[in-house]
Amino acid sequence: MEKIINKINTLKKEKKAVILAHCYQPVEIDNVADYVGDSLYLSQVAAKTDAQIIIFAGVYFMAQTAKLLSPDKKVLLPQIDAGCRMADMITYDQLKDFKNAHSGVPIVCYINSTAEVKSECDICCTSSNALKIVKSLNTDKILFLPDTYLGKWVERQLGDVEVITYPGFCPTHLMIRPDDIEKARKEHPNALVLAHPECHTSVSERADYVGSTVGIMNYAKNSDNKSFIIATEYGVVQRLRRDFPKKEFIPVKENVICPNMKMTSLEDILYVLETGNNEITVDKDISSKAVKCIDRMLEVSK
Ligand code: 13P
Ligand code: SF4
Repeated sequence: MEKIINKINTLKKEKKAVILAHCYQPVEIDNVADYVGDSLYLSQVAAKTDAQIIIFAGVYFMAQTAKLLSPDKKVLLPQIDAGCRMADMITYDQLKDFKNAHSGVPIVCYINSTAEVKSECDICCTSSNALKIVKSLNTDKILFLPDTYLGKWVERQLGDVEVITYPGFCPTHLMIRPDDIEKARKEHPNALVLAHPECHTSVSERADYVGSTVGIMNYAKNSDNKSFIIATEYGVVQRLRRDFPKKEFIPVKENVICPNMKMTSLEDILYVLETGNNEITVDKDISSKAVKCIDRMLEVSK
């Protein structure tokens, strides 16, 4: 493994490439990544980088978002078939129907969506800034897509905004059931439960803290508690164990894994770096509209 890591690290300097990795990627990817984080952090990095090539170790919508934010850069996705199953739950036509059924209501889209979908929405959000974004709209009703559970979590947190959600969901986070939380709490009575807002309502309601990937990591870092039950993708557990070896991190259940996030290998990264293949492109008309939706989010999140 050391050999391929060295090869990638040398080549990326020669080619002026930057490697961005989401926290759900296989943990060995961090050995070559320049930036590791959640969706918001990585999109902020993608908007600012002066590298010539962006290699996005993540899923399709993430690389596509990077391309929208840095249109003059070459953006490569190491595994071109790595999609997000939630983002694929809403097509452009389904979005149109959803909008037409509630015309005039501002529409917020989770960053886990295609450029076509973003091009028809007012503003984008991630799980770490969703509350801030919805508040910034100063309205008492919004449409939210594609994640119904994140949308409903926002509604419960804010209390004074009606959130009409599209029925999309993350199959990985929905693997976690309320019984898993109850069981883990019984086995680890001193542990705090940290959950991602993509989890089912019956799970996030049982958690001590609900937040994005980086939110969960920061909470665990800053808490005086020593033991945590982690209700999100397994990559977060692995990174927490690595970064805070004196604390205990218990996965809420085995195999809470996003298969598409785990498709990337170091070999794939070397392949795109050497060949320039798997380049992401976005239609110009779609791009000019979709980027506004993301820019508005970045402006509010500054
Ligand atoms: P965050 O990176 O915003 O926590 O989102 C999690 C996720 O499921 C990414 O696809
Ligand atoms: Fe999509 Fe869920 Fe995988 Fe994130 S964890 S990429 S939301 S399917």
